[in-house]
Amino acid sequence: MDTFQIQVDYEMQEKDADIIFNGLREFNTPYFGNKKSVSFAAYLRDGNHQIVGGVFAWMRPGIQLLCIDTIWITENLRNRGFGTQLILAAENEGIKNGCTHAQLETISFQAEEFYKKLGYFQIGRVENLYGDHDAIYLRKHLLPLK
Ligand SMILES: CC(C)(COP(=O)(O)OP(=O)(O)OC[C@H]1O[C@@H](n2cnc3c(N)ncnc32)[C@H](O)[C@@H]1OP(=O)(O)O)[C@@H](O)C(=O)NCCC(=O)NCCS
Repeated sequence: MDTFQIQVDYEMQEKDADIIFNGLREFNTPYFGNKKSVSFAAYLRDGNHQIVGGVFAWMRPGIQLLCIDTIWITENLRNRGFGTQLILAAENEGIKNGCTHAQLETISFQAEEFYKKLGYFQIGRVENLYGDHDAIYLRKHLLPLK
C-alpha cells in the first residue's frame, strides 16, 4: 500500500513550488483561460537613478483584472503626486493589456483616502484582520485610454 507524508518546508525550492503553482494553474485554466499572469513594477527614480518609490502589480488578461500589490514612496517625497503617477502608470499598463478593473487591499492605517481620491471604492472590509487593524478591499473600473 502507498504511504504518503506531509513535509513542512520553510525553504521552498522553485522547482517544488512550481509543481503546486502549475497544478493549480492547470486546474484554473477552464475558468480563467490559459493566458498567464504577468507581474510588473513601476519605479520612481531620482536624478541619480536611485529608486525612491515604486509599485508592484500583476494582471490576468484572461479575466481583465489588474491587482495592485504594493506601493511605497520614500517619506520625504510623499504628497507631491508621485504615488498618483505610479498608480496611473500601473493602471495604464492594465488598460493596454485589456484589464477592465483594478483591485487592491489596504490596511486601515495605510492609504484608504489616497485610493479613494483616485476613484477606488470599497468593496469589502474585514475588521481586525491584521491585529487591531482592518483590511479594506478597494476596486476601480478602468476606462479605455483615449
Ligand atoms: C500611500 C503613498 C504611496 C501615497 O503616495 P504620495 O506620493 O504621497 O501620494 P500623492 O502625493 O499622489 O497623493 C494624492 C492625494 O492623496 C493624499 N494621500 C496620500 N497618501 C495618503 C494617505 N496615506 N492617507 C490619506 N491620504 C493620502 C494626498 O494628500 C493627496 O491628496 P490631495 O490630492 O487632496 O492633495 C505614500 O504616502 C506612501 O508610500 N505611504 C507609506 C506606505 C503605504 O501606506 N503604502 C500603501 C500600501 S496599501
